[in-house]
Amino acid sequence: MIQPGATIGIMGGGQLGRMSILAGRQLGYRFRVFEPKAGCAAGMVADEEINADYTDEDALMRFTQGLGAVTFEFENVPAEPLAVLASGAPVRPRPEVLYVCQNRRREKEFLQGHGFPCAPFRVVDSAESLAAAVSAIGLPCVLKTADFGYDGKGQIKLSEEKDWEQVWKTFDAPLGVLESWIPFVAECSIIAARTPDGRIRCFPLAENIHRNHILHMSIAPARLSEQVHERAEEIARDIAEALGVVGLIAVELFVTDKGDVLVNELAPRPHNSGHHTIDACMTSQFEQHIRAVCGLPLGATNLHTPAVMVNLLGDVWPQGKDPDWSHLLRNPRLKLHLYDKGEPRPGRKMGHFTLLSRDDKPPVDEAARLFDEFFPR
Ligand SMILES: Nc1ncnc2c1ncn2[C@@H]1O[C@H](COP(=O)(O)OP(=O)(O)OP(=O)(O)O)[C@@H](O)[C@H]1O
Ligand SMILES: [Mg+2]
Repeated sequence: MIQPGATIGIMGGGQLGRMSILAGRQLGYRFRVFEPKAGCAAGMVADEEINADYTDEDALMRFTQGLGAVTFEFENVPAEPLAVLASGAPVRPRPEVLYVCQNRRREKEFLQGHGFPCAPFRVVDSAESLAAAVSAIGLPCVLKTADFGYDGKGQIKLSEEKDWEQVWKTFDAPLGVLESWIPFVAECSIIAARTPDGRIRCFPLAENIHRNHILHMSIAPARLSEQVHERAEEIARDIAEALGVVGLIAVELFVTDKGDVLVNELAPRPHNSGHHTIDACMTSQFEQHIRAVCGLPLGATNLHTPAVMVNLLGDVWPQGKDPDWSHLLRNPRLKLHLYDKGEPRPGRKMGHFTLLSRDDKPPVDEAARLFDEFFPR
């Protein structure tokens, strides 16, 4: 057990790190952040910040000295140099977990190899293998880059026969995964925490609505059948166990009209679809992450109030001005979270709000109305 008072290292300086630190501070931990760019959202609330490239082994060595544990808020850090971190502190999750989850090919092969349900796929590395994969998988399907995808970047949906030579050129990545398009009735996600001694606890299933391939709204609990909730939890537990993750693992899922649950992708860290847990659950995903990494007892994950989380992207900032937050702040059941990230570029995650329910249902229409009033399109 890593006792409160210890310093925890966080790789990555974004809002997920920031909210993990804010939660961990309540338990008396200190934090050191490693992030290439200075002035990051997590660094601003940390005790110490080291700015260097993720491959700078000297800087990683300096970072890890004296830490109780190292964890991640971002999985796209090159896995090889991370071996250095283990010389200073336990690394949780292990770099091997990142290695699997940061690459779509390895992730899919892990899922398939362990018998987890996911969309049929083929690995492609040329126009010829793309053409062969399309015949094998069938249309419609989607071509995704194996490395560094997020918010739908590096994806091409294919609905009809095309000049595959041309498509491969446009794709412009050395390796891809072609997967069958799933006509899902809902997208959802579940977050599990696992401790070093193998205890696992899941948060309730959340339902996710995307806009322009970026998460727009998370609804908790998901408005899906009891069977879907149970199946999702079973899958999340089994994945946490099979990966041997320590910390959080977020599992993104598709639900089909038959009620089948398929795994879309994994993230071994706090997840955007779990932000409502700060205000709507006994323990937030961020606190749970710190508890799991430090080997503390896991907190209760029950949702004390149904809730809806809405992302605030840079798009909601009027040109050169700050939005008028008073409309949101006046609402007695709304909690506003801003990440102090500076420049509000379109598509950039700048904050979110969580609207708590006044009854036993997540307030979906009310949250949508509030967002539309706040940000008329
Ligand atoms: N096989 C599929 N069938 C149907 N829809 C899909 C499929 N793959 C992806 N999508 C849609 O595109 C969205 C983004 O895909 P995915 O989660 O793979 O991408 P990503 O870029 O890694 O996103 P992020 O890491 O931000 O979640 C999904 O949430 C889903 O709405
Ligand atoms: Mg995704």
